[in-house]
Amino acid sequence: SIENIAARQILDSRGNPTIEVEVLLEDGSHSRAAVPSGASTGAFEALELRDEDPSRYLGKGVQTAIDNVNERIVDELVGMEASEQRLIDQRLLDIDGTPDKSSLGANAMLGVSLAVARAAAESADLPLFRYIGGPNAHVLPVPMLNILNGGAHADSNVDIQEFMIAPVGAPTFAEALRWGAETYHALKSVLKKKGLSTGLGDEGGFAPSLGANADALELITTAIEAAGFQPGRDIVFALDVAATEFHSDGTYTFEGEKKSAEDMISYYAEMIGQHPIVSIEDPLSENDWDGWVEMTAELGGKIQIVGDDLFVTNPERLRRGVDMQAANALLVKVNQIGTLTETLDAVELAHRNGFRCMMSHRSGETEDTTIADLAVATGCGQIKTGAPARSERVAKYNQLLRIEDELDDAARYAGAGAFPKYR
Ligand code: PGA
Ligand code: ZN
Repeated sequence: SIENIAARQILDSRGNPTIEVEVLLEDGSHSRAAVPSGASTGAFEALELRDEDPSRYLGKGVQTAIDNVNERIVDELVGMEASEQRLIDQRLLDIDGTPDKSSLGANAMLGVSLAVARAAAESADLPLFRYIGGPNAHVLPVPMLNILNGGAHADSNVDIQEFMIAPVGAPTFAEALRWGAETYHALKSVLKKKGLSTGLGDEGGFAPSLGANADALELITTAIEAAGFQPGRDIVFALDVAATEFHSDGTYTFEGEKKSAEDMISYYAEMIGQHPIVSIEDPLSENDWDGWVEMTAELGGKIQIVGDDLFVTNPERLRRGVDMQAANALLVKVNQIGTLTETLDAVELAHRNGFRCMMSHRSGETEDTTIADLAVATGCGQIKTGAPARSERVAKYNQLLRIEDELDDAARYAGAGAFPKYR
């Protein structure tokens, strides 16, 4: 049973404060989990509690959330069994008592929820993916490597937030990671040769200013070929447009022009006709449900359409999306919803309704690797956790290498089967 829980402030990859929680069990098991933080956050995400005290960390301190763990949560959870994850997460929801987790803060709740799961795994002497996923967890996800960053994650003029490569043709996760890393390095050379910036964005991808968004796909195609791989066979593309960021008053301001949802959908249709794109995330704004329905009707048979800001890992919003057929996949971010139980519920709801799931990091990350284990535990087949560079991104990919080793002959790489057949 739980003997103690303690939270402290640490820094995330952007140099902003976040929460780390430690859990100690009676049997001596000990665990630690840290909480990530987004920049292009959805309006419907659970609330990340910040101190708003301008004299500390530009108002981004998390001391209140830490106090909530140390003063309001600990006493309620001490004595509970760490393996009773659902009861523990339910207790957190009860203490909080708000629909958006604004009383305790979703950051406080998530830190506790994940650290409890890790302690229970430790106590059961099981790797986390096995403890959460059970004996059949064996599928290694396709890494969606974000090698060119734009939008809110870069200082460039590129509107689309993430240009990802998915090495679907690789035989193993380890090989997929190698193909991705080699392409990343090739892209650096391609950019250099063209006199473009090789500075990095928040998720470790390059962040050059370009003439048009589509130029990014041309540059990446050149890089894939230069690295010795074949676009469309070995490596395919995925985008996160994060369109909420450039949507207001019913219009999308894209490449300097005002566009309707229909305009954007035509643009995507053209793009997927020209490039092997298997997945587009947040092609439209978080409030544009009708646009999403149209997008899914038109392109959902060809590609994966992923709701991030639209669903915010929230089972209720996902239910609406399933009913309306407003997408065909769910982006899964533990801190959007705030507990492990609700995250797993969202994944289950998605899978039961024929939606695929992509496990995801945030643009502000830590060395915590929980999502790598969650990707294998849920068998979701896809994970996006940034470029194959910078330790807060690579920590997750490295954890997946360890899991693949541990599974040995039982490991299976999801590969192309993770996506709808493209084109
Ligand atoms: P965020 O970006 O963590 O800044 O929200 C990631 C995403 O939009 O998928
Ligand atoms: Zn997104």
